Amino acid sequence: MKIAILPLKLIIISSLIFTVLSCKNETTNPKHSTLNESIEKKVDSVLALMQINEKIGQLVQYSGKWNATGPSSTKGDQHKLEKLKKGEVGSMLNITSVASIRETQKIVMEHSRLKIPLIFAYDVIHGYKTIFPIPLGETASWDLNIMKQSASIAAKESAASGLNWTFAPMIDVSRDARWGRVMEGAGEDPYLNAVVGVARIEGFQGDDLSDINTIAACAKHFAGYGFGEAGRDYNTVNVGANELHNTILPPFKAAAEAGAATFMNAFNDIDGIPATGHKILQRDILKGEWNWSGLVVSDWGSIGEMRAHGYAEDKKHAAEIALNAGSDMDMESYAYEAHLETLLNEKKISIHQIDDAVRRVLRLKFELGLFDDPYKYCNEQREKDNVYSKENLAVARDVARKSIVLLKNENSLLPLSKQLKSIAVIGPLADDKDSPLGNWRAKGEYNSAVSLLEGVKNAVGENTKIHYAKGVDLTIPTIAPGANQFLLPLKFNTTDDSGIAKAVEVAKKSDVVLLVIGENAYQTGEGRSQTNIGFLGLQNELLEAVYKVNKNIVIVLMNGRPMDLSRASEIAPTILECWHLGSESGNAIADVVFGDYNPSGKLPVSFPHNVGQEPLYYNQKNTGRPYSNKHVTFSGYRDAPKKALYPFGFGLSYTTFSYDDLQLDKNEIKAGGDIKASVNVTNTGDRAGEEVVQLYIRDLVGSFVRPVKELKGFEKIMLNPGETKTVSFTINEKTLQFYTANNTWEVEPGEFNVWVGGDSTTTLKKSFTVIE
Ligand code: NOJ
Repeated sequence: MKIAILPLKLIIISSLIFTVLSCKNETTNPKHSTLNESIEKKVDSVLALMQINEKIGQLVQYSGKWNATGPSSTKGDQHKLEKLKKGEVGSMLNITSVASIRETQKIVMEHSRLKIPLIFAYDVIHGYKTIFPIPLGETASWDLNIMKQSASIAAKESAASGLNWTFAPMIDVSRDARWGRVMEGAGEDPYLNAVVGVARIEGFQGDDLSDINTIAACAKHFAGYGFGEAGRDYNTVNVGANELHNTILPPFKAAAEAGAATFMNAFNDIDGIPATGHKILQRDILKGEWNWSGLVVSDWGSIGEMRAHGYAEDKKHAAEIALNAGSDMDMESYAYEAHLETLLNEKKISIHQIDDAVRRVLRLKFELGLFDDPYKYCNEQREKDNVYSKENLAVARDVARKSIVLLKNENSLLPLSKQLKSIAVIGPLADDKDSPLGNWRAKGEYNSAVSLLEGVKNAVGENTKIHYAKGVDLTIPTIAPGANQFLLPLKFNTTDDSGIAKAVEVAKKSDVVLLVIGENAYQTGEGRSQTNIGFLGLQNELLEAVYKVNKNIVIVLMNGRPMDLSRASEIAPTILECWHLGSESGNAIADVVFGDYNPSGKLPVSFPHNVGQEPLYYNQKNTGRPYSNKHVTFSGYRDAPKKALYPFGFGLSYTTFSYDDLQLDKNEIKAGGDIKASVNVTNTGDRAGEEVVQLYIRDLVGSFVRPVKELKGFEKIMLNPGETKTVSFTINEKTLQFYTANNTWEVEPGEFNVWVGGDSTTTLKKSFTVIE
């Protein structure tokens, strides 16, 4: 026990502190609705010692100056230093590395009165230094175990660098491809966001937050951030009770139940109330109804931004609204530190509210074990050994190849033989070692990914000639090392086509072309909304020119959002969706291209025919039209289909699967009863392969209109050629209930449809009835 570093005054002042010392080794797995009594006692003992300035200080989070993810801090380093010394800061974000975290923690431990350790936070979104696929891409694996594993490696690497807390996972249901942050989540479906979110939370947190290999997770952004009107980041959200409760909130409820240690609120307003100041969401639902005892942090500056929304008169008013609404910690608004004390004196907020917020901060610090040893995560040797290790990179390659989705494969152009005489690798992203890292790449180093060109070279022997041509630059200038992504001007190259001739020349002399096009890392992410979701710059020109001379084109897509692939899918025989796959991108893609891995990914988002269809999602409502096929007007478009070009849940394999004999074990149940649905899935091709078997339901009549289909379960199975497996799903109260017009979750009696299949357009259907 490291008594030497314990705050001396604490020991003298309070006898209760001995409880603090004696319970050090217990497991602190916070299922944040059942409180751990011994931790609560310790929290109370510390709280009893705190003065008001120290309490308010715990509710303040500052950014280290570098790597700021919002408007630059308005306060300088000197101000922060003084506050740290006085013990008036609860947490820092964007300070990374053992050395700098130790140095910052030391300021508090050496100078402040109570020596309450800081928590260090960082956006570890899809890996720390070993970079995994962007979350949207990784979700395409539909493999919850590997998502949990990648989150746990990210936790291990960041904890070894001294960090305690990540701002992930993002579980905003995202249905608009124009929104740049679609890359950060699990796509358009609430069920998928819930189960993927839980897997990531479990991966980050493990089952003991005080373990030096785990970090606290943060479910974000609470709530509605994915519904910004017209896909504009930060934009207003207009949803009613049905959409809020049945689509937006379920992943957050699942996160709270899974014990997510923290939540982050959001920049947007919902029907006129900024999420940061939304009392119903934060106090009534999250902390009340769901009985969740974790910590809510504001988004960057979002308390202060309530002034710009036109919801708060000034910063003081904003602080009052936010604290009353249940926003516990102020990230970079400087509103709490400046105004909470006055607001308290004016009785505009209460000491109970402050104490409750401080308790949530202290609870997390105890759970992380920081009171036992504020430097427990700071060990240079661990940082050296655990970060960017060979083993972690091997997992990154496996996760990456499992995240690839084969969208089209006419005449089985893929997989390619490693004996081919020549392969052209063409495109602005073909030898790009940076874009595959994607946005929000934490400590992923500039240009550290394996490019596809490198991956192909690693995979084939000397007898295969690889011809490379960039063709066109995507942006001007190309992205510079170490640049702040928020300041990067993305100016697309629309004039310089001088490289196309060489691309044509290498395409002509090759057996097959791998054309690597799409989006670079910074076209998606925060503040990266786009109205054009096609191939920007001169990529279309490149595609047409290459197609003219070689029809054997495999389009290798790199991107962070659903794209408009209408022309590409018309002409290219093969399309491979490769997202931004992380550190091992090129090797993982080569594994699929040459058949060392049989692709098994399925889309977590619908791909439209064109941007005008956005927001596009499979689980839409039917509307009143079409009611019958006699209708001449209908809810759709005259110039484009209503449906997706590539639907939710879709993805091909190098083998084929058939689905037969869907059976329900009953035709009727009472609300609260169970039905078993089973189906036979057969591998009808000649290769072993994995298939994601998906279960959908429809509640035909509801007190709120129900979607035409809703994903309610899935299982990823491996089948050998000719093999059949029976896959079963249990349909129960949890599957069938929704938030009804009675403002409660219940199963409404009536008829339900059940479908099982390999994507959301499946027609293999049965029905049953729920009786009173
Ligand atoms: C703003 C983003 O919205 C949020 O997701 C992120 O965690 C914070 N900045 C901190 O970087």
